[in-house]
Amino acid sequence: MPAHIIDGKAQAARLRATIASDVAKLAGRGIKPGLAVVLVGSDPASQVYVRSKAKQTLEAGMASFEHRLPVHTTEAELLALVTALNHDDAVDGILVQLPLPPEINADSVLRAIDPAKDVDGFHPINVGLVATGTGGIVPCTPLGSMMLLRSVRAELSGLNAVIVGRSNIVGKPMAQLLLKEGCTVTVAHSKTRDLPALVRTADIVVAAVGRREMIRGAWIKPGAIVIDVGINRVTDVAGGSRLTGDVAFAEVVQTAAAITPVPGGVGPMTIACLLSNTVDAATARRGNRAPG
Ligand code: GUN
Repeated sequence: MPAHIIDGKAQAARLRATIASDVAKLAGRGIKPGLAVVLVGSDPASQVYVRSKAKQTLEAGMASFEHRLPVHTTEAELLALVTALNHDDAVDGILVQLPLPPEINADSVLRAIDPAKDVDGFHPINVGLVATGTGGIVPCTPLGSMMLLRSVRAELSGLNAVIVGRSNIVGKPMAQLLLKEGCTVTVAHSKTRDLPALVRTADIVVAAVGRREMIRGAWIKPGAIVIDVGINRVTDVAGGSRLTGDVAFAEVVQTAAAITPVPGGVGPMTIACLLSNTVDAATARRGNRAPG
C-alpha cells in the first residue's frame, strides 16, 4: 500500500490560524509581536523566502520589518543593524537570512543577535539550551519536521532515526529533538560508509542533505516514516522548473508508511514555526504570560 502523504500545507494553515488567534488575544493586551527579517544581497531563492515570510507575518496580524541591504554591505554595517534591532522594543524576533555574502562572518552576526529575539534558534545560547533539553528557541525547520512526524506517530520512543545531513540549521538540531523523544539517532553525512544499508535500519528517515532525489526507494525499510527537508530546483526538458526533495518520492512512496511531499511538506511548516517562535518570543520577553 502506498505511503500516507503528510499534508504539511494543511497542517501549516492550521498552525497559522492558531497563531493568528493568539496574536488577536495579545492585541487585547496592547502587544503586537514584530518580526524583523534582514536580507543581504539579491540571492533569488532568499528573496522568495523573505517575501513569503513578510507576507505571512502580516497575515497573522503581526508587525513585519524588512531590511534589504546591498550585497556590498560590510560586516560592521550589518552588526550595527542587528544591534539596533536588539534595542528596538517593537521587534520581538530577528532573522538574518542565510547564506550571507562570503565577506561577512555569519557566526559573528548570529552571535550578535539577542538570544531572546533569536527566532531562528541559531545563537549558541539557544543551541546549548536545545542540546541540553533545557529550553531555548528551537530552529524552525526541525520544529516543523517534529510536528509533522508527531502527526503520524505520537510515540517516538525507542525508534531508530537516521538523519542524512549534519547542518547546524537542520541535521544537528533535529538529532537533539529526536534524542529528547527517546529515539536512537544516527547522523549520516558525506563521509558515512554504506549509506543505503544505514538508512535501511531506520524507522524514521530525515533527509536534509541538499541533493535531489538522493534517497532511493530500495534504501527504505518497509513502514518507515520519511521526512524530506530538501528543496531543490530542477529544470525540466521543456525549460520549466519545479521543486524536488532529497528523496526519490515516486520510489519511496511505495515502501514507506508515511512521507512528506516536496513541495507541500516541511517547507510551509518552517515559516509557520517562525511565526510561532516570534509569538513565543514576544510573550517570553514580557514575562512569559501566555496569550489569553
Ligand atoms: N536559509 C535557509 N534556511 C534558513 C533558515 O531557516 N533561517 C535563515 N535565517 N536562513 C535560512
